[in-house]
This record gives sequence, C-alpha cells and structure tokens, in this order.
Amino acid sequence: MVILELEKITAGYGMGPDILNGISVRFEAGLIHCLIGPNGAGKSTLLRVIAGLLRLRSGRVLLDGKVISGMRPDQILALGACLIPQDRCLFPDMTVRENLLMGAYIERDRRQISRRMEEVLALFPEIQRKLDQRAGALSGGEQQMVAIARGLMIQPRVMMLDEPSLGLAPLVVDRIFEAIRHLKERGITIIIVEQNVRKGLAYADWGYVLDMGRLSFEGPAPEVIRDPRLQELYLGRLALANPEVRA
Ligand SMILES: Nc1ncnc2c1ncn2[C@@H]1O[C@H](COP(=O)(O)OP(=O)(O)OP(=O)(O)O)[C@@H](O)[C@H]1O
Ligand SMILES: [Mg+2]
Repeated sequence: MVILELEKITAGYGMGPDILNGISVRFEAGLIHCLIGPNGAGKSTLLRVIAGLLRLRSGRVLLDGKVISGMRPDQILALGACLIPQDRCLFPDMTVRENLLMGAYIERDRRQISRRMEEVLALFPEIQRKLDQRAGALSGGEQQMVAIARGLMIQPRVMMLDEPSLGLAPLVVDRIFEAIRHLKERGITIIIVEQNVRKGLAYADWGYVLDMGRLSFEGPAPEVIRDPRLQELYLGRLALANPEVRA
C-alpha cells in the first residue's frame, strides 16, 4: 500500500532555478526507503517539500491519498509526517527532557505525554540517564538519538531522516540504524537520505537514486547497491570534480 506519493514535483528556492524537475516517487507503507545521489541532487529539498518547508512550483504530494502540498509544516506534522533535519535542530540550552517535551507540544493529555516519553526512552536507554543534561552537552550520537526521540513524541506514521549518520563514528552509526529498524517494526514508514550509500542501502528495503532533481532509477535496495549505474553516477561526478581522475 502506498502511504506517501509525490506527483511530478517541481520546486526551487526563491527566484532560483528548479531544483526538483518534475519528479514522481511513491513510498510503500511500513518499509525503509533510502534516497541516495550526488551532492546537490535535491535529496534534502525533496524531504523539505514533503514536510511543507518549501512550496511546490507544480505537482502535488499525497499522504494516504490526501493532498498535503500547500499545507503548513505544523499541519503536515499533525498528520503524521515528521522530518529530522540534517542539523538535528535541537535546543542546545534546554535539557534532553525539555527537548523531548517540545516534540509533544501538540499533545495536551499529560498522561499520554508521559506514556510516550517512556516508550521513546525504552528505544534509547542511552538518553534516559541524561534527561536532565543540556542537549548541547551530549555527544553527536546522543544528540541524533534525542532528535529521533523528539520526532517520535508525536507518534509519526512517516519519519524522514536527513543524513542521520553524518559526523558519527561507525559503531554509533550502527546503533542509529538499529534504532531505525525498530521503528520499522513498530510500523513506521521510514525515508532516509544517506551519504553513506552502503550503510543506508544495507538497512533499507527500497532504494531511490536521485540525480539533478530527477529520479535516475529505483529498486529493491540489494539490487540498487549492485547496479552499475550507481557507480557510474558517483564516479562520473567525481571525474567532473577532479579532472585528473578522468585520465
Ligand atoms: N536554502 C537554499 N537556497 C537556495 N538554494 C538552495 C538552498 N538549499 C539548497 N539549495 C540548492 O539546491 C540544490 C539541491 O540541494 P539539496 O540540499 O537538496 O541537495 P542534496 O541532494 O541534499 O545534497 P547534499 O548531498 O549535499 O546534502 C543545490 O544546488 C543547492 O545549492
Ligand atoms: Mg542534503
């Protein structure tokens, strides 16, 4: 069953050129999807469009068959599509607990909130011990966990993660991806943008390769990782950036 669908999306920043060029993508409910592609391909832009942070020039976005493009970011969040941005956007001077509570700001029922807090902390025992520390004092991995945990406080149905492994040590990256796998087991649909192509596709069910604002190709993750077009794309870009590589 398709949960999220992008239909012929065109989008760009300000008066600038189109960054997404009529791209159509469908995401199946309950799967882990991984978006990869060279720098500047438009991966983050695609997530921003879904989250309502960037207005479309044409096309539409549907969640459960309902048009969400044109809605405000908070409305889209309330419908269950949550974005964990690349810079994580924590409140560094607030405690971990306060950060988590900010994630539940649309929920009024206090018992609900404390129940969710317990659930979220069960997924990340590491941060349970640090609830009263400043978020800014945590390690990069712990901050990523808090960012994901905060997103979970609204009980999203679709969670989008922009480069969750960025700047983290390999062991910590594995920990984050294991947690993401748990989210899938809870029935949450996952969309990950990942520079770490091998790692991202190893945990994903389905892979999408973006290039210059278009969908280059897609397929089951194990097939995408073996696809010669993938190497061509990355090596081709590398050769353009470093002319000496071409020789
Ligand atoms: N806020 C912005 N204002 C203007 N242009 C932007 C903005 N953000 C991104 N762009 C441009 O849009 C294009 C796509 O950027 P985007 O961040 O979506 O790429 P990406 O695939 O996520 O790349 P990366 O792998 O480097 O994160 C780039 O050319 C970038 O310069
Ligand atoms: Mg990006």
